[in-house]
Amino acid sequence: MNTKDKISKKALRKIANSVTVITCQSGESRDATTVAWVTQVSNTPPLIMVSISPKRYIHDLIAQAKEFGVAVVGEKSEQMALFCGTKTAYEVDKLYEGNIETISPSLIDSPLIKEALVNLECKLVKSFDIGDHTAFIGEVVMTHLQYEGKPLIVTDKLCTLEY
Ligand SMILES: Cc1cc2nc3c(=O)[nH]c(=O)nc-3n(C[C@H](O)[C@H](O)[C@H](O)COP(=O)(O)O)c2cc1C
Repeated sequence: MNTKDKISKKALRKIANSVTVITCQSGESRDATTVAWVTQVSNTPPLIMVSISPKRYIHDLIAQAKEFGVAVVGEKSEQMALFCGTKTAYEVDKLYEGNIETISPSLIDSPLIKEALVNLECKLVKSFDIGDHTAFIGEVVMTHLQYEGKPLIVTDKLCTLEY
């Protein structure tokens, strides 16, 4: 039995993750991309790690802008999360095409998502290659608690949709 036979994607997708939409603006370019591999990794300072494939348009934006927004979305934002997780900024301006309303940030330049439960403004402190993704570590410099509600969670159920 080789390694490929021992590793089931279905098994890995039983790990539940919170669905976030990561936003970033660098110069004239901007993007909003759905990311489930996100977690807090330190309390003091408050640090968030997001794992993003170098294939994503937003990958290089974050490397250039050295900042990003994290929108934690609720159950009502499933369609928006799927839109931002299936369209690419190589082809469309997702915020414009998806009629996704933004709000202004306080300490970063990247737009924030109006309908999110929570928006976190993050400044990039470190990044490193990890497997086929890049781990971006951001310090949370401002939080916006916008709405009460249950965060949207992804397991293999949502992941059965193509992305
Ligand atoms: C539910 C869901 C979770 C996702 N999680 C991640 C993730 O953790 N990391 C990642 O690089 N891509 C993830 N993706 C894929 C990207 O969101 C998708 O490829 C997107 O179209 C990239 O857009 P961009 O090229 O404009 O950055 C996820 C997609 C969905 C639908």
